[in-house]
Amino acid sequence: MKMPEKTATSTDDTVRNVVRPENALPEDARDYALRPSLLAEFLGQKAMKENLAVFIAAARERGESLDHIFLTGPPGLGKTTMARIVANEMGVDFTETSAPALEKAKDLVGILTGLKPNAVFFIDEIHRLRPEIEEKLYIAMEDYELDFVIGQGPGARTMRLPLKPFTLAGATTKAGMVSSPLISRFGISCRFSLYESSDIKAIIRRSASILGVRVDDDAAELLSRSSRFTPRVTNRLLRRMRDYAQIRKLPSITLNLARDGLERLEIDGLGLERLDREILRMIIERYGGGPVGAETLAISVGESVDTLEDFYEPYLIQAGLLQRTPRGRTVTALAYKHLNLEAKRPAGSPRLFPD
Ligand SMILES: Nc1ncnc2c1ncn2[C@@H]1O[C@H](COP(=O)(O)OP(=O)(O)OP(=O)(O)O)[C@@H](O)[C@H]1O
Ligand SMILES: [Mg+2]
Repeated sequence: MKMPEKTATSTDDTVRNVVRPENALPEDARDYALRPSLLAEFLGQKAMKENLAVFIAAARERGESLDHIFLTGPPGLGKTTMARIVANEMGVDFTETSAPALEKAKDLVGILTGLKPNAVFFIDEIHRLRPEIEEKLYIAMEDYELDFVIGQGPGARTMRLPLKPFTLAGATTKAGMVSSPLISRFGISCRFSLYESSDIKAIIRRSASILGVRVDDDAAELLSRSSRFTPRVTNRLLRRMRDYAQIRKLPSITLNLARDGLERLEIDGLGLERLDREILRMIIERYGGGPVGAETLAISVGESVDTLEDFYEPYLIQAGLLQRTPRGRTVTALAYKHLNLEAKRPAGSPRLFPD
């Protein structure tokens, strides 16, 4: 690709939209800027948004706290973002922690007693709550009260401490690991699914304008197909493409640049990264296409079962390359085709070592 011979400090119109080092923020601050802070800025998940808008408007009208919210779905789909948006739209405080950080009951007591009225209290990884903390939370969620014990031994007494109304927002990538007594105490459930490509394209447009970089239509199309239907991935790819455009002094992210950039990042036409391909290849080459158990597979590719199940598998399944069966993971015919591999033992052919 031929590069225009201009410098990043040129005042020429064609380079005006390229983000320059002098107005670049650290990546974290940029990410914060990309995070939608109102429902109207949150793209996709239409039904969820419409419902939340009604529940928020109704709670505000009554001057009450919003009911507790349970947020589940694969990583990077906007659970934390949505919890913050809810607090913003309610016009209340937002306090954030994660279940592993709540080690002792007194950690929870400290936070809950310090909450402002109707505040949103966000607990990430809520499937990892310790049982004694979870039990305290039941009463806090239901009655806005906390049990605590005064004194020790036979003279010990249990007291109930009143709390101000609050909204618990609990997020997890593993809904199946949350106990049913806890789930039943959430009045609102937000289940995030992978985004439609039209939503991902809209997110590219929005993020590009915040980052101050132009993206050609065909490049946006390619980047959306490579985003795993996940906004966090979309934003990451966009930032990398912006880097390539900036260094090459290109006025916008073109299709050629996006193709080249994705190749350098080892991301293929289906949006698979190196490890995605390794997972599929491993199942095909070592386990005859499957089925293979998640633990065995995770060890084979050197990842944790959690990462395999939460990050890699949802997309491989959605892309039609992998199936979860009761006996383990199996690749589909599309996976063989995508990796340019022949099925070792096409269906119906005789097996060399029948079992
Ligand atoms: N609907 C959306 N519209 C625009 N940007 C979004 C949307 N959802 C998420 N994002 C962007 O994606 C990033 C990741 O979202 P977020 O951190 O809320 O995901 P998460 O579901 O909490 O992930 P994890 O499970 O890893 O905690 C955010 O910083 C935000 O910029
Ligand atoms: Mg999160």
